[in-house]
Amino acid sequence: MSNSPALNNWHPASWQSKPATQQPKYSDPVKLERAVAALGRLPPLVVSWEIEALRERLARAQRGEQFLLQGGDCAESFEDCESDKIAKRLKILLQMSLVLLQGLKKPVIRVGRFAGQYAKPRSADTETRDGVTLPCYRGDNVNRPDFTAADREPDPDLLLRGYERAALTLNFVRALIDGGFADLHHPEYWDLGFLRHARLRDAYQKIVDSIAESLEFFESMSGQRVHAASREDFYTSHEGLHLLFEQSQTRYIERQRRWYNLSTHMPWVGMRTADIGGAHVEYFRGIANPIGVKVGAAMSAEWLQELVQILNPQNQPGRLSLIHRFGHKDIERRLPEMIRAVRATGAQVLWICDPMHGNTETTAGGVKTRRFDNILGEVEAAFRIHADAGSTLGGVHIELTGEDVTECIGGARGLAEADLARAYKSQVDPRLNAEQALELAMLIARQTGTVGRMKKTPSGG
Ligand code: PEP
Ligand code: CO
Repeated sequence: MSNSPALNNWHPASWQSKPATQQPKYSDPVKLERAVAALGRLPPLVVSWEIEALRERLARAQRGEQFLLQGGDCAESFEDCESDKIAKRLKILLQMSLVLLQGLKKPVIRVGRFAGQYAKPRSADTETRDGVTLPCYRGDNVNRPDFTAADREPDPDLLLRGYERAALTLNFVRALIDGGFADLHHPEYWDLGFLRHARLRDAYQKIVDSIAESLEFFESMSGQRVHAASREDFYTSHEGLHLLFEQSQTRYIERQRRWYNLSTHMPWVGMRTADIGGAHVEYFRGIANPIGVKVGAAMSAEWLQELVQILNPQNQPGRLSLIHRFGHKDIERRLPEMIRAVRATGAQVLWICDPMHGNTETTAGGVKTRRFDNILGEVEAAFRIHADAGSTLGGVHIELTGEDVTECIGGARGLAEADLARAYKSQVDPRLNAEQALELAMLIARQTGTVGRMKKTPSGG
């Protein structure tokens, strides 16, 4: 069977013989061992048939039949594990997916960056403030963001707290969805209340009305209900960074005869941990989940070709998504060569654009931000470059929140640098707020409509 790790000396701990970057340094190995053993006994958060259902949908997205919307916080925080924040994040993702569905005329696969996005890669191991040097903050699964020695000390028990919060988050998301929250017949459930920009609000209302009209038409014609929400309307993803954590939730499923990471549906390999000979690539090659790989400016075409070969040797449909994040300037130069390189391997992949991580900048005042126009510019360029190359952009990967934060500059309400201080909450990367995220979805929907139409003209292709 494809991806059968038994053939290649793979086992859930085989990564331990390779260099593992971005791992915290724990001072108490006994406590760490105890926490990891406890995690290994806990029941899984997701099951293999959900994972397989997602893989099949991703395979359809590879064929251009569906579109992936992946989004959520850069780093989830334990403190934000509360009903209002979880519901708001779900609402904005649902609103965006409705807009994309209407614009693209294809089913939208919704994958949250949530229920486990608690470990962060960092560019330096330590941080120095006023002459004091402490370990860097690596996400709530590892340590705490406050700048004290106690807060920054990696604590193995946080892995258990993170796992529990992931379970609480997922439980709530699933209960909402089972209760009809994601039902297309009830977009009024997703009202965020603070969509204040009139043009945006009107445009969104038009989309909602048009979907309601279409549903009514088809249902009266066919005598059947068109869309019944199910728990498959939401999948989870997180960066598979903390390898002891990921290993502890890796289980052999007898019926599928394969190993799965059952802490999430779709883990991804981050840009900083994608080395060919490294521990992360070793771990990821053996799990059967659909996986993502971030592709950034530091990656060469040959490196990417090797990754594709190692991570999906059997070329299984839906298995591999490449999430490119070059930035609005570099994408013009770098993406075409990457598309050619992957095509030369004969591999099927799903191309996803992450327009966030190549567009981060620091203001003169030292605040990390991103400009809405650069984010939009990168997505637009991605659609165009893929279409010109006879390839398809099959999804977007966005850092966003359902809250009214001020972390990114621009958008319909014209957030300026001076506004950033007002409601900047992210501990790590700046996120689009709900209004900016919805506006982005609308502009993407319009863009893809154009690209789709362009491709259908007789001279196109
Ligand atoms: C992220 O997705 O938050 C991240 C760190 O991305 P990348 O690995 O692409 O830098
Ligand atoms: Co980020």
